[in-house]
Amino acid sequence: MNIVIFSGAGLSTESGIPTFRDSGGLWEQHRIEDVASPEGWKRNPQLVLDFYAKRFEKQAECLPNPAHFAIAELAKHHSVINITQNIDTLLERAGCEEVWHLHGRIDQQKCEYHHSLAFEYDGDLECTYRSQITAPIKLGDECPKCGGQLRPDIVWFGEPVDMREEFLMKTIKQAEIFVGVGTSALVYPAAGLLPMFRMTPEKYFIDPHPNYELLNGFTILEGPAGERLPKLVNRLLLQ
Ligand code: APR
Repeated sequence: MNIVIFSGAGLSTESGIPTFRDSGGLWEQHRIEDVASPEGWKRNPQLVLDFYAKRFEKQAECLPNPAHFAIAELAKHHSVINITQNIDTLLERAGCEEVWHLHGRIDQQKCEYHHSLAFEYDGDLECTYRSQITAPIKLGDECPKCGGQLRPDIVWFGEPVDMREEFLMKTIKQAEIFVGVGTSALVYPAAGLLPMFRMTPEKYFIDPHPNYELLNGFTILEGPAGERLPKLVNRLLLQ
């Protein structure tokens, strides 16, 4: 079966990574525009680097929870495509191979100048640069291709998300089961994904506080991902 799992911060809450909009969320001590926007980066790059270095350390200490492992188990038996808004790598660490990170990855760095979408490169594709983070990024760390400053491989507010149109259309067409988990589904363009899967025959949504208004046509499983997702996966494995 072709299964799509669309996840948000709630998938990783039980691993110890707080969600964005719940109280105690990640932005609490910082204004979003200071640490997650191109303007914030221009104003104070050191603050941004420190913020993401802390998040990198924090996620490295966290472990995948039963929900991540359930998805990895499902992927052993079916074709599973993960579309996640999460920048942590807990799905990969649980054993998932097919993970599309809409908002980037905390364990990667990219060139501050040449990292965006192909259509923006204006012919300068040669300079695209991304790599694994091996030590905290420092001011002065240069892109080996053009000398630009390296920055976290995160899609900040105001920056375009690579929606991989062709791949997404193929995924929508082939999807037989869609599972949304742990997302308020309020932030675009991710918010636009739910209606795109309206023709998918079987649709589930797992969240302790589901937004019923957005979830017409979904079977809603109200509760924490770590409890609900393994149960759903067990059921799907018997289908
Ligand atoms: N299991 C499942 N869901 C949970 C759990 C849990 N244990 N705990 C909380 N949730 C749910 C909340 O009820 C909420 O619906 O997770 C959701 C988290 O919502 P948000 O904090 O809005 O996170 P998300 O939807 O991932 O946000 C999207 O917004 O700020 C940006 O770039 C950021 O990727 C992020 C995007």
